[in-house]
Amino acid sequence: MVLSMERWIGKVAVVTGASKGIGAAISERLVDEGLQVVGVARNKQLLDALVKELAGKNGKFYPLVADISKEQDILEAFDWIKNNLGAVHILVNNAGVGNPSSVLDGNVGDWLNILNVNVIGLCTATREAVKIMKEHNIDGHIIHINSMLGHFVLGIPGLEVYTASKHAVTALSQAMRKHMGNSKRRIKFTSISPGATDTDFIEQEVRDMIKMDSSVMLRAEDVADSVVYALSTPPHVQVSFQFPALALHRVRKTPLNIW
Ligand SMILES: NC(=O)c1ccc[n+]([C@@H]2O[C@H](COP(=O)([O-])OP(=O)(O)OC[C@H]3O[C@@H](n4cnc5c(N)ncnc54)[C@H](OP(=O)(O)O)[C@@H]3O)[C@@H](O)[C@H]2O)c1
Repeated sequence: MVLSMERWIGKVAVVTGASKGIGAAISERLVDEGLQVVGVARNKQLLDALVKELAGKNGKFYPLVADISKEQDILEAFDWIKNNLGAVHILVNNAGVGNPSSVLDGNVGDWLNILNVNVIGLCTATREAVKIMKEHNIDGHIIHINSMLGHFVLGIPGLEVYTASKHAVTALSQAMRKHMGNSKRRIKFTSISPGATDTDFIEQEVRDMIKMDSSVMLRAEDVADSVVYALSTPPHVQVSFQFPALALHRVRKTPLNIW
C-alpha cells in the first residue's frame, strides 16, 4: 500500500476543537501537508495565535469561532466555508469535553454539555459536511477523535457520562460506515481512539487518580500522526478504527494495564 497525502493538497479540512491540544496539533500537521484548514473553536485568542504560528507554511489556517454545542453556530460555520472556500473534503470531529461530573453527585448541565459537544455536535457537523461532499461529488473523509473510553469502561469516578458519550461515538462511526457502504459516494469514516494524551483535557485530579504523569502519556502530535496515516491510505482502503496506545504500553507495569 502506498501512503500519500498528495491528493489532499489544497483541499479543505475542517477541524473542530482546533484552539489547543490534539485539535491544534492536527491543524498544524494538515497545514504542513499543504491543506486549507478551517479551525473551529470558541477561544478566538488561541485561534488567532495559531494563525500567526502557521503563517508561511505550505497550507493555510482559517480560524472560525463557533460553539459546537449550538446547531446555529455549526450551520453558520459551514455556510462560511461554502461561501469562502467552496467545499469540504475532510472533517475531523475533535472537539470534546470530559470534565469529571459523577452520575452520583454531578449536575445535569455538565452532562448535557458533554453529550451536546461530544455526540450531538459531532452528528451535526457530520451531517453538514456530508451534505456538502455529496453536493460537490467529493469522496471525502470524516474522522472522529474518539477515546479508549469509547470501547472500555474503566470505572473512573466522574467519567461515566464521558465514557457513555464516547461509546456513542463508536456506535455512530460504525453505523455511518455501514450506511456509506450502501451509498454511491465513497466517504470514509475513521474513528481514532487515543489513550491518555498530555493536554489540558486531563485535569490534575484525574492524573492523580489514574497515577499518570506527562512522561508516560501520548503527545497530541502522536494523535495527529494517526490522522495523517488514515488520510494517506489509498481511496479503496478504509481504516475503520485506530488505537494509539503507545503510552499505555510504556506503563504496562502499572495497574492501568488492562487493555
Ligand atoms: N487528552 C486525552 O487524554 C484524550 C484521550 C482520548 C481522547 N481524547 C479526545 O480528544 C479530543 C481533543 O481533546 P484534547 O485532549 O485536545 O482536549 P483539550 O486540550 O481540552 O482541547 C479541547 C478542544 O475542544 C474545544 N471545545 C470544547 N468545547 C467546545 C465547544 N462547545 N465548541 C467548540 N469547541 C469546543 C476546545 O476549544 P474552545 O475551548 O476554544 O472552544 C479545545 O480546542 C476530545 O474529543 C477528547 O475527548 C482526549
